[in-house]
Amino acid sequence: MILKATAIAPSNIAFTKYWGFRDGKLYLPNNNTISMNLSACKTKTTVEFSPEFKEDFLKINGEFASEKETKRASAHLDHIRKLAGISLRAKVYSENSFPKGAGIASSASAHAALAVAGAKAAGLNLNERELSCLARLGSGSASRSVPDGFSEWVAADMHENSFAHSLAPPEHWKILDITAIVSEGEKKVGSVDGHRLAATSPLYSARLAHMKEHNDKVRKALLEKDFDLMGKIIEKDSLSLHAVMITSEPSIRYWNSASLKLMNAIESWRAQGIKAYHTFDAGPNPHIITLPEFREEILKRLKEIPEVKSIIVNEPCEGARLINEHLF
Ligand code: PMV
Repeated sequence: MILKATAIAPSNIAFTKYWGFRDGKLYLPNNNTISMNLSACKTKTTVEFSPEFKEDFLKINGEFASEKETKRASAHLDHIRKLAGISLRAKVYSENSFPKGAGIASSASAHAALAVAGAKAAGLNLNERELSCLARLGSGSASRSVPDGFSEWVAADMHENSFAHSLAPPEHWKILDITAIVSEGEKKVGSVDGHRLAATSPLYSARLAHMKEHNDKVRKALLEKDFDLMGKIIEKDSLSLHAVMITSEPSIRYWNSASLKLMNAIESWRAQGIKAYHTFDAGPNPHIITLPEFREEILKRLKEIPEVKSIIVNEPCEGARLINEHLF
């Protein structure tokens, strides 16, 4: 048995999003989703199992993780231990390429890296599909950080059928995700709690009814490089997701006034010929999906907006992989 391994995994931005589970234990979603890996938002994780460890131990960016974070990592490690037939406890060190307080959700990159490193350290030899399913058990969106470039995560009733696969490699299309950080704080409602409220919104069933159309259009536009069609659906899908969040009981509002200001700005830039569309995950920071030729102009305009605290520029990139450089 290997016992120690390190993996690196990117976060991803969903072009079509999931919200709500068909199975909240296995993190099985109600609809397919399509995403792009984010080159500047990566997590590197080393996992070591040892008979000498009495309990699981987790450090993030050199600091002891909170009890909640450690519990969540332990629950994910339990799935790995069960698959490998071991009961050894683990030491986990994790480092993010983006600052912890940047308002960037690290759960996708963190759980994809934990799945890939943990499986190897436990002596498992899993293929990409199995690793994607395993990553999903830590955080749904982590399933999409395993394959390369642009991925589609399939909704299914069974654990082994709900995995993400690559629709196109990173070099297929060098579009950009420019993330404008307007709030560095932790979100009030974590996504797992938010997912559980989805069905309380009267708009949820309407959203699910148009997800197939959103996915078909985004997949086609991505493969044919039809930027305007893709951007239009990406923006619409995000707005529909937030309409569900806002109308759930209790109402969840991830946007703040800066998010609304940016949304209006991006739409007015578009009217001036700058091809840019906005999408928001469970947080206030807009991800601006654009083409490389608009990068400098968008960066210039974002820097003029006082609410924008920092900016992260991402390209599509490869998915999770093992590396030969341990963190401890
Ligand atoms: O996988 P989670 O629990 O971090 O949920 C992700 C939820 C959204 O980011 C809002 C949508 C998505 O598909 O990524």
